[in-house]
Amino acid sequence: MHLQVSNVCKSFGRGSNAKLVLDQVSFSLESGDFKALVGSSGSGKSTVMRLIAGLDQPSSGVISMDGQPVRGPGSDRGMVFQKYSLYPWLTAAENVAFGMQLQGRSKQEVRERTSYFLDVVGLADSARRMPRELSGGMQQRVAIARALAAEPKLLLLDEPFGALDIQIRESMQEFLHELWRQTGLTALLITHDLEEALLLASEVHIMAPSPGRIVRTVKVDLDRRDMAHLRVSQPFLELREDLARSLRGLEPAGVR
Ligand SMILES: Nc1ncnc2c1ncn2[C@@H]1O[C@H](COP(=O)(O)OP(=O)(O)OP(=O)(O)O)[C@@H](O)[C@H]1O
Ligand SMILES: [Mg+2]
Repeated sequence: MHLQVSNVCKSFGRGSNAKLVLDQVSFSLESGDFKALVGSSGSGKSTVMRLIAGLDQPSSGVISMDGQPVRGPGSDRGMVFQKYSLYPWLTAAENVAFGMQLQGRSKQEVRERTSYFLDVVGLADSARRMPRELSGGMQQRVAIARALAAEPKLLLLDEPFGALDIQIRESMQEFLHELWRQTGLTALLITHDLEEALLLASEVHIMAPSPGRIVRTVKVDLDRRDMAHLRVSQPFLELREDLARSLRGLEPAGVR
């Protein structure tokens, strides 16, 4: 898998109402990469994700996967959003099975993959529960299982833990790191949480608003075996502070 985002610009509105929301955004992802886009609200992160997902088209520039321009949504890209996006009338297992059924897989394959992926996210015991009976963290794990079960080449995560409280959020970050380590998935994480980006991604692109653009890219090479320790380790805190300073410098005056 090779995702290439090249010189992407996006504006909304026409004529004097036109607003440039993305300005010359470029980056790429290879199989097995875990990269992150970080930026304040309005810096265009979700817009980038929607364009990669094929839910909207760039105004100029190109997004391609394996050399083919992205023209619309496809099951090669799986998505997880901040808001719990499970179907409330389906059980956890039925939610996971849903996308695979659309793909036309056999009943047996759907059944097997459903229990496999519920197990991967630690929810084998909750297969028959309804979303309303699950905590926020569990619902997001079902959403991740649903996305993975459809075998996407690329997992797009837009603030997947944004609505979770801090403890659950931390355990979900560890969970996602383990999942990446064990399955070798390819992921693009969108977050406004610098710590989250640094904990999970090998490369972090920092975006600034008005117009949304990438202003800094950092490679992150940290020992993640003990995440609880990493969160409070000196190199981690220094890197976080360094990037936090550049993010603060990017806010419009008046907000500071
Ligand atoms: N369909 C649309 N029509 C007009 N403007 C839009 C549209 N979608 C996004 N925008 C504008 O584009 C800018 C970037 O929005 P976007 O949602 O991509 O930011 P974001 O970085 O994801 O922010 P947040 O952290 O709040 O989710 C905002 O100013 C937003 O108002
Ligand atoms: Mg957003």
